[in-house]
Amino acid sequence: MKRVLIDCDPGLDDAVALLAAFGARTLDVCAITTVAGNVKGPQTEINARIIRDVAGVDTRVPVCAGAPRPLLRDPVTAEDFHGSTGLGDLPFPAPKQPLSDMHAVNMIIETCRAAEAEPLILIITGPMTNVALALTMAPEIADGIAEIVLMGGADSEGGNITPFSEFNVFADPHAAAAVFGCGLPIRCLSLDVTHTVRATPARVDLIRAVATPQATVAADLLHASCKLEFSANGSRDAPLHDPSTVIAVARPDLFEGRRAYVDVVTEPGEQFGRTIPRFEAAGPVLWYEQADSDGVFDVLARLLGEFK
Ligand code: RIB
Ligand code: CA
Repeated sequence: MKRVLIDCDPGLDDAVALLAAFGARTLDVCAITTVAGNVKGPQTEINARIIRDVAGVDTRVPVCAGAPRPLLRDPVTAEDFHGSTGLGDLPFPAPKQPLSDMHAVNMIIETCRAAEAEPLILIITGPMTNVALALTMAPEIADGIAEIVLMGGADSEGGNITPFSEFNVFADPHAAAAVFGCGLPIRCLSLDVTHTVRATPARVDLIRAVATPQATVAADLLHASCKLEFSANGSRDAPLHDPSTVIAVARPDLFEGRRAYVDVVTEPGEQFGRTIPRFEAAGPVLWYEQADSDGVFDVLARLLGEFK
């Protein structure tokens, strides 16, 4: 059993990632922390609580709201890809269970401090503001983190929010620089790999055929993501960004990459928020470049079927 804490900005693909993590019998989700990103902060925590309800998980897995804005830059959101609600404007009921009264940064600090004997895996699928703050406030929590698995950045693929920058890094490049430079082992799912893992209609049907309530919701979320991706940039098959982090935790063998040091451009200009991997064997970041995309969707379907 792998203990994971997921820091996210739900978001359609974050929501699918959460469902996969909650379904996985080999993962123990100890907390969900949310951050402003795809939509404004208060909406991301509502969305995380909605998905916790869909998963049938109670408040033993707390949802904690975090940073309402980036460290330094002006806030940006991505409603074009996630709808005004962040969950594709799908008709979900309001969350039934409460938000934790602990701030996300304090939850990350307290949970990682308590994990020193059995370090946890920190999954980040949104702007890295909460984790950067936690590592700055309490650097010793690194002893409770086995690795960070994050979705963010782009190199050979180019950006999705500017020609150079991927959204999670662009939304808070200073936080991303702090995390990429923290020295902990990181596995990075940038656009270079997530753009090779696409939710085609056949793959969405594969998920829907699992037929658990959670798989049905995941298929609806993926379908909404594909519709918004098409209206936003003409691509029919949405990349499986955030769920790929959970699949990489469950099945690292499905991904390949090279080790690197990763720099982030934080100077104003056209390359603001660009990630620049310097591929060296001693690099702390495993920069994924290939994935078995059929295998990823087969595992996603299996995880969503484990709710049975
Ligand atoms: O660039 C894709 C990333 O930005 C995903 O995490 C998506 O949810 C948005 O946060
Ligand atoms: Ca996200």
